[in-house]
Amino acid sequence: MSLFNKVNLYLIIMISLSFNLQAEKIRGEYSTKNLKGQDYYLNSCSSCHGEGSRGGNIASIREWKEFFSKDASELIYFHEEDSSTLKVLEYLKGNEFKKESKLMLEFLQEFAYDSEHIPTCN
Ligand code: HEC
Repeated sequence: MSLFNKVNLYLIIMISLSFNLQAEKIRGEYSTKNLKGQDYYLNSCSSCHGEGSRGGNIASIREWKEFFSKDASELIYFHEEDSSTLKVLEYLKGNEFKKESKLMLEFLQEFAYDSEHIPTCN
């Protein structure tokens, strides 16, 4: 390899390393690959429970599974008290939730408090 090529190779490596660092900063600690599940959560739950990493933290992986089982009867129960949650109730009882619940559950389990992806300071 000529000196010129070595220098070029070195530069390319340095540049790509710094791009990686930059991307790391923008993405934050951890981001999901389950973008659909994230969208579903952001659309229907985050207005009250915050971004996914905080929302997921409400429960453990197993608890989330329970919340979403039996046609989400526990979730429905938790949102029955309040008049502000009428829209959530409608959503949880409707067909949209039936379609979205699998990926939403997987997304929430990714951020459950006993998952390996717990973001710090939450
Ligand atoms: C309009 C606001 C609102 C929306 C939207 C909402 N929730 Fe809730 N949620 C509440 C309130 C209020 C409670 C009851 C108080 C509490 O325990 O925090 C609650 C309770 C819960 C609980 C029990 C929490 C606990 O503290 O044990 C879970 C789990 C939960 N919500 C999940 C969800 C999910 C999943 C969605 C989206 C499908 C959602 N919520 C959408 C307001 C909301």
